[in-house]
Amino acid sequence: MTEYDRRSQDVGNLVALDHVNLAVPDQQTATLFHVVGMGHTRDPYLTVGLENMWVNMGREQFHLPTRESAQTVRGRIGLVTPDVALLEERLGAIAGRLEGTQFAFERDGRNLDVTCPWGNRIRCHPADGGRMGGARLGIEYLILNVPQGAAEGIARFYAEVIGAKADVVERRGAPAARVQAGRHQALLFRENAAETRPYDNHHIAVYVADFSGPHRALSAMGLITEESNEHQYRFTNITHPGTGETLYELEHETRSLGHPMHGRELVNRDPSQSLQGYRRGADALLVG
Ligand SMILES: [Fe+2]
Repeated sequence: MTEYDRRSQDVGNLVALDHVNLAVPDQQTATLFHVVGMGHTRDPYLTVGLENMWVNMGREQFHLPTRESAQTVRGRIGLVTPDVALLEERLGAIAGRLEGTQFAFERDGRNLDVTCPWGNRIRCHPADGGRMGGARLGIEYLILNVPQGAAEGIARFYAEVIGAKADVVERRGAPAARVQAGRHQALLFRENAAETRPYDNHHIAVYVADFSGPHRALSAMGLITEESNEHQYRFTNITHPGTGETLYELEHETRSLGHPMHGRELVNRDPSQSLQGYRRGADALLVG
């Protein structure tokens, strides 16, 4: 019989990174950047007012509530995108209207590095069948800058408290805690002494298979910040399981697989569809 490494298929308790929540001061600029430029789709069903916008990318989302100050991830967001050349073209077309903001984009080999109008850095990788199990669009990873010496404790926190698959890897010469989310997503906490920005309360949402286990452990450590409802709780501090020292702050909206929105079908349009070259039956993007 063939011997397989059955562990290669294990994913741990963190099964999905669902959304990244980043406040924006201006919905019109957010629409121009995320929908027109990036080519993503506004969720047509929920939060369709001016106080918030949900933006679909494959099976993941950005949540963009309106606040006075913008929020930024202290690191980088990794996306898989269906067509880098067309993305570059669309961003070029909106550049004039985003002058005076932090908006920028630059080709880096096959990838496109994009900075949103408020300074969030997004690396867009071409969908080539190898990433995210062949998906054409989605949030694949977050790379977060953490203080020197924090990676090992962060990996232990995710492994021991959350039950995630987590280890310490080297990433461009610096230690990083790599936390797996499902089969094709990851959170990377990379040591970077140059990061000086304070935490601004942006959040991520994750799904966990074992919902009560982490809750029990987090409660014992006094780390639960919100008992949202029967399907969801929140925590922010990532602490060293041995010493209790706070290593990093990132609010986790933590959802069970029984959450009503788990597996929700998201609408994704094909941004290459156009008035002039209209193709029947090609409005929707098959995200894979
Ligand atoms: Fe959220």
